[in-house]
Amino acid sequence: MKADVLLGLQWGDEGKGKIVDVLTSKYDIIARFQGGPNAGHTLEFDGIKHVLHTIPSGIFHKGVVNLIGNGVVIDPVIFQKEIFGLEKLNHTISELLISKKAHLILPTHKLIDAASERAKGKEKIGSTLKGIGPTYMDKTGRNGIRVGDISSSKFKEKYEKLKRKHLQILDFYDFDYKLEELEKEWFHSLETLRKFNHIESEHYIHNAIKNGKKILAEGAQGTLLDIDFGSYPFVTSSNTITAGACTGLGIAPNNIGEVFGIFKAYCTRVGSGPFPSELFNETGERLAKIGNEFGSTTGRARRCGWIDIPALKYAININGVTQLMMMKADVLSGIKKIKACTHYELDGKKIDYLPFEDNDKLIPIYKDLDGWEEDLMNLDNLSKAPETVHKYISWLEQTLEVPISIVSVGPDRKQTFFR
Ligand code: GDP
Ligand code: IMO
Ligand code: MG
Repeated sequence: MKADVLLGLQWGDEGKGKIVDVLTSKYDIIARFQGGPNAGHTLEFDGIKHVLHTIPSGIFHKGVVNLIGNGVVIDPVIFQKEIFGLEKLNHTISELLISKKAHLILPTHKLIDAASERAKGKEKIGSTLKGIGPTYMDKTGRNGIRVGDISSSKFKEKYEKLKRKHLQILDFYDFDYKLEELEKEWFHSLETLRKFNHIESEHYIHNAIKNGKKILAEGAQGTLLDIDFGSYPFVTSSNTITAGACTGLGIAPNNIGEVFGIFKAYCTRVGSGPFPSELFNETGERLAKIGNEFGSTTGRARRCGWIDIPALKYAININGVTQLMMMKADVLSGIKKIKACTHYELDGKKIDYLPFEDNDKLIPIYKDLDGWEEDLMNLDNLSKAPETVHKYISWLEQTLEVPISIVSVGPDRKQTFFR
């Protein structure tokens, strides 16, 4: 049995949480492999909306194992809040396992994130300020503290050593902070983290694959935020792509099965960085309003624009996408002419790829497609959708050369069509 991967093909917030929840009944294990509480994955059912940050989106399905893999970074304070939130719901939640090798976000990591962003001024990344960058820096710098360390007798010593280093960095930034309360909260929240099974998740995954268990790896962020292949430096600090599932869970590349690539029928981005097909007009405002485009983690307004084909093709290639899933088709209702960016113009030349430099100088070249008036949110069958919806889907499939297997027309579990 091979493990399937589901990930975002744009700048995050494509609707990963919703689709993982929809697909969970087909799987035994749902596993997060990278990122941390910078993610906000929304799922909706029975009229209630849930936003998950660290916990995999299979948590509401009885009998499924949810796993937080080694590639994830965990803030125990946010983790505790999520757990308390779930407990309050009185909803059965499934088993949750955590890799001993997952790194911990310390209170000082968050302070350094804020100090670093302030120092960048206008050039700031637009980070979620959850301490993601500084934590991955300590991981690759070989200074990090991992979940498995919290049961070691040397834990406090390790913590103090890393904290001292962080305080020097904060001095360098000349950054004011109050650490005492944050530290108290952090140590207190470790008690919740301790209540879960900490495992060597790579062995668990190997055995699961060997024993024919079905695994779905749940990506966070999106391909264009990948540390290597995204719009650097306006990216996150992990590999958000299929390869990230290999390193973030210990799955060998030849054990990857299907790769589900999720995209919105248009495009959004939150935070700074290039966005060639961004709209600054009424249509952009309309997408933001109807699509309710506000960040699930920070509440910030998301920038909106038309679908970007060269960027999607790039993401499909890097991830080896085998099936596409198109989200938020309902949001385009009422737009007479839908535009799709098929090429860019750079210094007077027409190109069909994202170049290394000058991404903020790219001028989008659009193709017009016929839109539809009808509301799609109440459809009970995709075959009843207007002809122009089918034409939009077929054109995307032909252009992207990958089948679209799911079309989503609303935030609820039920507003999902399999093709
Ligand atoms: P994720 O980070 O990829 O899981 O996506 P987010 O949860 O951050 O953002 C997606 C938003 O769109 C959430 O508010 C979802 O409830 C909502 N959503 C998902 N699919 C659809 C859809 O097909 N139509 C509409 N209107 N909203 C959707
Ligand atoms: P999900 O999983 C959208 C963006 C931030 C910022 C950049 C770096 O919900 O799709 P970071 O906090 O990682 O240092 O921020 O990446 N970003 C996201 N944008 N969805 C996310 O996650 C994101 N996680 C980070 O806005 O531009
Ligand atoms: Mg999100």
